[in-house]
Amino acid sequence: MLLLHLFPEGVEELDGAFAVYADEPPIGFDVLEADDVREGWEDSWREFHHGVAVGRFWVGPPWEDPPPELEPIVVDPGRAFGTGAHATTRLSLELLQSIEPGSLLDIGCGSGVLSIGAAKLGFAPVTGVDLDEAAIEATTANARVNGVEIAAHVADALADALPRTEIAVANVALDVVERLAPRLDTTTFVTSGYLDRDEPALPGWERADRRTADGWAADLFQRIDWRSARLSEDDLELRPWEDGDQDRLGTSLSDPLVGRYFGKRLDVAEGAPLPDDPDAPIFAIVAGGAVVGVIWFARGIRPFDVGYYLHPDVWGRGLATRSLSLVSDWMLSVLGERRVVLHTHPANERSKAVAQRAGYASAGVVDPYARFKDGSTAALRYVRDR
Ligand SMILES: C[S@@+](CC[C@H](N)C(=O)[O-])C[C@H]1O[C@@H](n2cnc3c(N)ncnc32)[C@H](O)[C@@H]1O
Repeated sequence: MLLLHLFPEGVEELDGAFAVYADEPPIGFDVLEADDVREGWEDSWREFHHGVAVGRFWVGPPWEDPPPELEPIVVDPGRAFGTGAHATTRLSLELLQSIEPGSLLDIGCGSGVLSIGAAKLGFAPVTGVDLDEAAIEATTANARVNGVEIAAHVADALADALPRTEIAVANVALDVVERLAPRLDTTTFVTSGYLDRDEPALPGWERADRRTADGWAADLFQRIDWRSARLSEDDLELRPWEDGDQDRLGTSLSDPLVGRYFGKRLDVAEGAPLPDDPDAPIFAIVAGGAVVGVIWFARGIRPFDVGYYLHPDVWGRGLATRSLSLVSDWMLSVLGERRVVLHTHPANERSKAVAQRAGYASAGVVDPYARFKDGSTAALRYVRDR
């Protein structure tokens, strides 16, 4: 029975051993022998394809009657993966029922079970992609039978452009989940396709939920957003910059002392607005409960390029080094950035020392970099890598 859960495409007892039907060599098992399946295998799986209840849904084949109290998802997988009975599909469908609907991308849609469930839950628009043409045919046919709208097309999710959606779901192998995450333009990611001893390593994402069944797991990840981040260490806190913080801070880069080494970007015309870049963090530096500085990443520049300043009243207390270390550690280890960069006027000895103490290494001179107040344009470049 356990084997049937693990291999819902079919299990047979043969000469005292078990034969399992699967498209891929099963994960976590030693395969003693692999054989092409016998004549008639295309239909033999039907014996094993029975309906299952998943939360408010019943997922099952067209030749079974759904129980009246559950909403049916009728699937005929054809040659594609997915009867709906596999634990990874059931767990993913459970997680989809626990989140707020929005636009959704189903990566590796197989027979379309998750896409159809999502559409029935009110997710829209729903797009399904799969490497396998048979999966797209099955998803399209099953969507029609279930009376829902799904746009399905063949794509390799690791290579082709993916649409921007609020939610993505991927019931694929662990390494595919991990390689996919950095390619997604989405805030919520439902993942499955791996055993419960496995945990996807997804820098920049935090796990909000996990479901397990029959030795398999599914996870719900949310993208980490600097707008809700709070980085703190002892009496020092970096929190998202708010309206009114400029007044609370009481100084700015137009102050000749604070902004002595400030440089204006050469890639943005004088007086023109900075590029829109909601992903570039900007934090107020708060010490002892007071806003004493600001630390930000230049908008529209990657790798992220950091800048900061502090009120002169708190200079000499190590706050710049601690703030720079805190934010750089977070960018690299939590957000998963590979590199952060800092540029400074070559005569700014204080800034050079801060960069080095915060783990940055000198990477030479960049000229032109910015228009500094003294008219020079060369900056020293420092980098810190993950
Ligand atoms: C385990 S099945 C899941 C099917 C369905 N989502 C379900 O839960 O029943 C994984 C599917 O992902 C597809 N797949 C694997 N790697 C892919 C990739 N790089 N891009 C698109 N689809 C992929 C496979 O063809 C297969 O249909």
